[in-house]
Amino acid sequence: MPLPPSFEGRLRLPVIAAPMFLASGPEMVLACCRAGIVGSFPAKNRRTREGLDEWLTVIGEGLAAIEAGTGRPAPHFGVNLIVHRSNDVLQEELEVITRHRVPLVITSLGAVPELVGAVHDYGGLVFHDVINLRHAAKAIEAGVDGLIAVAAGAGGHTGKASPFALVNEIREVFDGALMLSGAMSTGGDVAAAQVMGADLAYLGTRFIGTAECRSPEDYKTMILDSRQRAHGMARHLVGGSWCRQHHRHSAHRRSGRQAGGGISRGAGSAAGPGACACSHTGKRTGHRRRQPMTRPQPSARADYPFFTRLHTRWDDNDIYGHLNNTVHYKLMDTAVNGWLLDHVGLDPHHGATIYLVVETGCSYFAELGYPAPVDVGLRVTRLGSSSVTYDIGLFAPGSDSAAARGSFVHVHVDRHTHRPEPIADAARSAYEALVKDG
Ligand SMILES: Cc1cc2nc3c(=O)[nH]c(=O)nc-3n(C[C@H](O)[C@H](O)[C@H](O)COP(=O)(O)O)c2cc1C
Repeated sequence: MPLPPSFEGRLRLPVIAAPMFLASGPEMVLACCRAGIVGSFPAKNRRTREGLDEWLTVIGEGLAAIEAGTGRPAPHFGVNLIVHRSNDVLQEELEVITRHRVPLVITSLGAVPELVGAVHDYGGLVFHDVINLRHAAKAIEAGVDGLIAVAAGAGGHTGKASPFALVNEIREVFDGALMLSGAMSTGGDVAAAQVMGADLAYLGTRFIGTAECRSPEDYKTMILDSRQRAHGMARHLVGGSWCRQHHRHSAHRRSGRQAGGGISRGAGSAAGPGACACSHTGKRTGHRRRQPMTRPQPSARADYPFFTRLHTRWDDNDIYGHLNNTVHYKLMDTAVNGWLLDHVGLDPHHGATIYLVVETGCSYFAELGYPAPVDVGLRVTRLGSSSVTYDIGLFAPGSDSAAARGSFVHVHVDRHTHRPEPIADAARSAYEALVKDG
């Protein structure tokens, strides 16, 4: 295998989890490296030098822990750089990457000898993604260590060439590390890529339906539930390729505004509901959905911009004399729908659209019970194009620490078809008052 020597003994599977705008971050990178494959994320998923620095520090510490635990070198991880004039912070990104000595830099759009030289100077490697032989020739000339052949069917800024044609053409002129990407999902696909002449498979969409992916839950669900015939649907639903999203993002930043519609202000996440871009979702990934493993901590009253006081009833208490767990869900539902009735004009009986609950969860920290009322705090942690994720705190009167903390995901759908519908601007403005970072 013509993989660079520093890959030796690090991988359990010949796979790179590809960088995905707004979807991949340190959790994904570390989970991948723990599983024995290369993890990566786009530098653009952090908007500031400090943010990028923070993520690289978290990854560095995580990898050190993995290595200490396994006694083996961890897989490399990669950071994706957009090498294009629209990226006016490329130098800053490169400076942070150099300081952290990121082992693998994945470049897109431009292959530039100076950048390759700068990465080589600190001992890093550069893989460049290409969609045809002409781009491959330029990248080889720039001195990259590996080529990523982005073939037809790849998510995001997809290529058009057949993987067979692309790999064969590139292999005629390049005997370095070659990655193949495009609509791969299974172990059989990975093996096929190697048989065709690639060294590693480069998979993106396959990782969207994971707990570590930063995409909104309804987007993950859509990917997990879709089949081949859904091909092309996401472009319509979520607004184009990641490449255009990057450009739009840069343009917004230059004009001093936050990146547009739906970029999340949610729970410490750079991921933006409705902003994920994938030109094909038509794959049956076979991923089982998992819940995140970390247990939420009790929240405080100050975490919530809106409160409503709800009264309990005598039969809310169960045989143990406290609120039964199902009653917590009733209170959450009552608070959310009450807010929608009062602030968004929800008409459950006649409105053209309604909200369906697609996910709920609750962690319990202290007892609540009749006859005390419950103060329910609401905040929105993710406002997507058609979905809303709430964090809900249930407080005993006078207590500043939540007795229970719930998560609750609503999808805005057509009343008859139950297909997702974009949240209208007026409702979106109402929601803005509930959006609060946690
Ligand atoms: C939602 C999404 C966002 C993406 N964002 C980026 C990106 O920021 N930079 C990049 O180089 N590639 C990006 N890609 C492309 C992937 O890195 C990879 O080439 C592609 O996902 C492989 O095809 P697959 O999704 O069929 O596995 C993105 C792909 C998806 C699905």
